[in-house]
Order: sequence, then C-alpha cells, then structure tokens
Amino acid sequence: MIDVNKIRKDFPILKRKVNGQDLIYFDNAATSQTPLQVIEVITDYYSRLNANIHRGVHQLSQEATDAYEEARIKIQKHFNAAEAYEIIFTAGTTESINLLASGYNSLLKPGDELIISALEHHSNIVPWQMLCEKTGAILKVIPMTLNGSLDIESYHSLLNSKTKLIFVNHVSNALGTINPIKEIINEAHTYGAKVLIDGAQACPHIKTDVQELNVDYYVTSAHKLCGPTGVGMLYGKKELLRALPPYQGGGEMIASVTFEKTTYAGLPHKFEAGTPNICGGIAFGAALDYMNNLGFDVISKYEAELLAYATNSLKKIEGIKIYGEGLDKTAVISFNIGDIHPYDLGSILNQMGIAVRTGHHCAQPIMDFYEIPGTVRASFSFYNTFEEIDIMVTALKKAVLMLQ
Ligand code: ALA
Repeated sequence: MIDVNKIRKDFPILKRKVNGQDLIYFDNAATSQTPLQVIEVITDYYSRLNANIHRGVHQLSQEATDAYEEARIKIQKHFNAAEAYEIIFTAGTTESINLLASGYNSLLKPGDELIISALEHHSNIVPWQMLCEKTGAILKVIPMTLNGSLDIESYHSLLNSKTKLIFVNHVSNALGTINPIKEIINEAHTYGAKVLIDGAQACPHIKTDVQELNVDYYVTSAHKLCGPTGVGMLYGKKELLRALPPYQGGGEMIASVTFEKTTYAGLPHKFEAGTPNICGGIAFGAALDYMNNLGFDVISKYEAELLAYATNSLKKIEGIKIYGEGLDKTAVISFNIGDIHPYDLGSILNQMGIAVRTGHHCAQPIMDFYEIPGTVRASFSFYNTFEEIDIMVTALKKAVLMLQ
C-alpha cells in the first residue's frame, strides 16, 4: 500500500505555495515532479563527476562514462530490452520519433502506406506527415469512437501489403485511453509492417516489457516519470536499428573519418552524435530506480483509486462532460463544464493554487472530433491525494458560480 504522506516528503516542490495557496499539482501528464532522490543524483553529478564521456582516459571521464552506461543498463532492464545497445538516448519522445522519421526517409517509396491513430499527440503526427511529403508515402488514420477508444475494426481494414509502419500511442495524453497495443502489433506483423509505440504517457503508470510486446520501436521521455526534461529514449530491435541510417552527423557516431569517406560507429553510438545530456541520462536511471522501488503495481492501483474517486466527485458538478469516460485508462480526466471556456476554468483554478492543463493538449484532431476548442485536463500521480481532489472539485464549483 502506498504511504502518500511519506512519499510527498520526497517532493520538495509540493510544499510550495501558489497564489497564497498550497500547490495542488494535477498537470502530471505534461511533466511529473522530481523527487529528492533524483535531485540528489543531479547535484552529485555536477558536484563530483562532471566530465565528457567516451572520450577521456582521465578518472572523471571514466566515472561519468560508467554512470551513463549504467543508466542505459537500468533502462534496458526496466523495459526488458534484449541488449543495452538497443536503448538509444535522445532528447525525449519527440526527438526519438523524429530520429525514426528521418531514418525511414531513405527506406520508403511512393505509394507505401503508414498508419497513425486519431488519438496521437502532434509529435506522432507531424513528423510522419513531413516524411510522407518527402517520400510520396500515404498516411492513413485509425478513427476513434465517441468514448475515446480506437476503432480497431477499421484498423484491420486499413492494413494491407503496402503498409510499412504503424504509429500508435500506448496511452492518449489528452484522454488517458490505454490502447490495445498488443493486438495492434500482432496484427501489423502478419502484414510484415513495423510498429512504433509512443510510450510517453504510459511509462509513469505501466511497466512495459518490449520483448513480451514484440514491439519494433518504443519511445519515451524521462520527465514523465520523475526524471529531468531534455532526455528520453528510443528502443528499437537491433536488426531494425542497424538497418537505419544515422540521424545526425558529428563526434562519437563515427568509426573513422577522412575527407573521402566516413564510416559509422555501431549501436548505440551511431545515433548519439555530439555530447549528450550526460547528467540527464544518469538521472533518468535514478528516476526509474525511484519508481521501481515504489513498485508499478502499487502505483497503478493507487492511481486507479484516485481516478475513480475524482470521476465520481466531478460527475456531481452540473453540466460537466468528461471525454473518454468508461475506458481502460490511466489517471487522466479531460472535461468541460457547460459552455465555459477551458482556459477560464484553468485560470481560476490557478488562482486557487491548482495546476491543470487547458487547451487542445497538442492533440487537435481529438478536439476536432468532439467539436470543442479544448478541455480542462487533470492528470494525477501517485503523490496526489483524495483531499486534493476534494479541493479541486470545490474550486470548480466556485469557478462555475463566477463564470456562469
Ligand atoms: N505532451 C504533454 C502533455 O500532454 C506536454 O501535456
């Protein structure tokens, strides 16, 4: 069982005031907060270890390299990748997706088909549109249903021998829907298509086993799961990563350079040009340690209780409409009240110290589907409490009185 009062002591930011009120942080899907255990690793890195990696014979460089490579192994173990070199450090989910889109530029031909889902974040739409413009490949979309799920029957009918790649998020950032990715992957493989799963919103809540899923590529960002911003990962099956050309040219991604010809390093360095976010990578590993020490079973059970409690409490507000209700979902609630603009509700909540995200959540096609400008999104984490939900519900009732 989770001891939330003890856990909250790990997060110094939760003690701060916003607009004279105790901070209530319900914007965890945008970024999670950072525990002392990770902050201490960051401080220790710059106090004791700071040096460039893979480059020096000196002690600091070797220690920093060891810490960075140990973090890669922690990430490998967490996601159960077969090899540590199948984990590529990137700046985050968006860069991981762009790395793949750039690599596929030389592997696609006009008429090849790519499939995305109607539930994608812009970061898993725009790079593929750009790739289609360059290559002549065709982008198709798995439609969504009113309850915020994917229309899986339609997915089956979109697949054919021309399908090369499928991109789906594990969990929708805007609605919290958990997509049936195992089924999506298995079906894609019967057509020889490869699948990228965007795990940015799943990783804080669900422990993913990439081998069990048999997924081809899986991407995420450290800052969604108590790590720092500016670092993330691309997992890819080794034979697929080997077949992709490098993303960026620069130091460390080469085997040899002459003015006539450059040959490239092996995995993972082929995709890691330049000095990486060394401290960020090490802190990513520390964040996974923190989450695993709590235990993902415990985290998801507690978050499910928060979600059920918040859903029941919010439903008592007259005129509320929750989007993506009744699904297999993570602890995210997207809603509107009457015809009040989500920005107005969010601004009043902010005055009361409550942080939520408002707007289209970088998922405009979902908002277009519901014919709304956006929603208020409250996204919960294991360090949130039932009392905080009560305060938000009371604050929303006050906001409605002020705005209607
Ligand atoms: N993708 C992040 C969100 O959903 C930023 O808020």
